[in-house]
Amino acid sequence: MGDLAIKIHEVSKMFRLNVERHSTLKERVVRIGRRPPIEEFWALRDIDFEVESGHTVGLIGHNGSGKSTLLKCIGGILRPTKGQIRSRGRIASLLEVGAGFHPDLTGRENIYLNASILGFSRKDTEARFDDIVAFAGLERFIDQQVKRYSSGMYMRLGFSVATSVDPEILLVDEVLAVGDEAFQRKCLDRILGFQRDGRTIVFVTHAADQVRQICDRAVVLDKGKLVTWGTPSEGVRTFRELLYGFGDDDGADGAVTAGDRRERVRIRAVQVEYPDPDRPFIRNGEPLNIHVGYEALEPVDDAVFVIALHSVDGHVVFGQNTWGLGERLPTLRGSGEVTFRVESTHMLEGTYPLTVGIHEKESGAILDWREQYEHVDVINLEENHAWGVADLEATVDLTKLNSR
Ligand SMILES: Nc1ncnc2c1ncn2[C@@H]1O[C@H](COP(=O)(O)OP(=O)(O)OP(=O)(O)O)[C@@H](O)[C@H]1O
Ligand SMILES: [Mg+2]
Repeated sequence: MGDLAIKIHEVSKMFRLNVERHSTLKERVVRIGRRPPIEEFWALRDIDFEVESGHTVGLIGHNGSGKSTLLKCIGGILRPTKGQIRSRGRIASLLEVGAGFHPDLTGRENIYLNASILGFSRKDTEARFDDIVAFAGLERFIDQQVKRYSSGMYMRLGFSVATSVDPEILLVDEVLAVGDEAFQRKCLDRILGFQRDGRTIVFVTHAADQVRQICDRAVVLDKGKLVTWGTPSEGVRTFRELLYGFGDDDGADGAVTAGDRRERVRIRAVQVEYPDPDRPFIRNGEPLNIHVGYEALEPVDDAVFVIALHSVDGHVVFGQNTWGLGERLPTLRGSGEVTFRVESTHMLEGTYPLTVGIHEKESGAILDWREQYEHVDVINLEENHAWGVADLEATVDLTKLNSR
């Protein structure tokens, strides 16, 4: 395989979906005696790419595009329906939150279990044990059953174990998006350390800027197909075009292609202005201003400014743009600022990554885009037992409750 760490050759993965589950009782009765209806679903189709030894590859794509499936195939957890994957070196993978943990065992027991699955002896694990626990920050909880852990704690433990067993190839599914910022930073530092050691890393992320910052290559998947395997900038650009439905910019009628767009306007600064300058967060319900400073390098007509708040796993919680808000912008010249005002933010406690961008209304061409560039922090000071991202006003009515 020369200098290759992973070679993926015409890999396809098909799942059989039992359509029965969704049918009505009547439909099922009518079908009695016949074979249950099974639908074939191709989660991956003819994927071909190679990963050089020592490279870091970012895997990006929409939800459901097949990223996790591909990572599981590389990690040997799923077998491709067609095609082959060859890899060289010991693989440690951190796939889904909590995957590989046994809920009834304690954190301590799970560390030994996991490390042994990843090929570490008991003695090796003993030698690293304290470091693993310390990195995960779980000293106080290590003798608790992991089913009592939060998903952040699971993830921290999983990441810590997977990166402590000296793998030659590390597969990571989207953990950099979970957990608090301090921990994300630690994970990133560790990944950078792996890079310096010349290990091979494949990781899934929604944070396109991360791909640009730390990857050697990017792979973009869309509906199970590989759309780009190239440099991080190529990957990020394709991904954004897919994500925002732009990209029918095919160079016909003399339009510039995605590859060589001239820079016409640049986002200069993004500032989240909280209602109280001494408090860098909002309480659920408070207003918020988002300032987007720009500099037009030439007069720009037809610009639309976009903001989007994401949940930590990358889903858009709220997206809006100047056009959607009924504003047609006059020609932009020189530098200036556009301020979005959110009157009330009914979101639950959390950190919400913020994307800002500018595109042309008619052609859809992206003029500048900063993916998950800033963030908005929401903190509930009063006790709020709801969970998720949106805070809906809910009550419960017990007048028809029967307790006799
Ligand atoms: N075990 C399975 N059985 C049936 N369908 C599956 C299975 N695993 C995944 N799929 C389907 O395959 C497609 C790809 O899923 P996958 O989890 O790989 O996507 P993803 O790119 O990781 O998405 P996300 O960004 O939401 O994590 C989805 O449509 C999913 O529903
Ligand atoms: Mg996934």
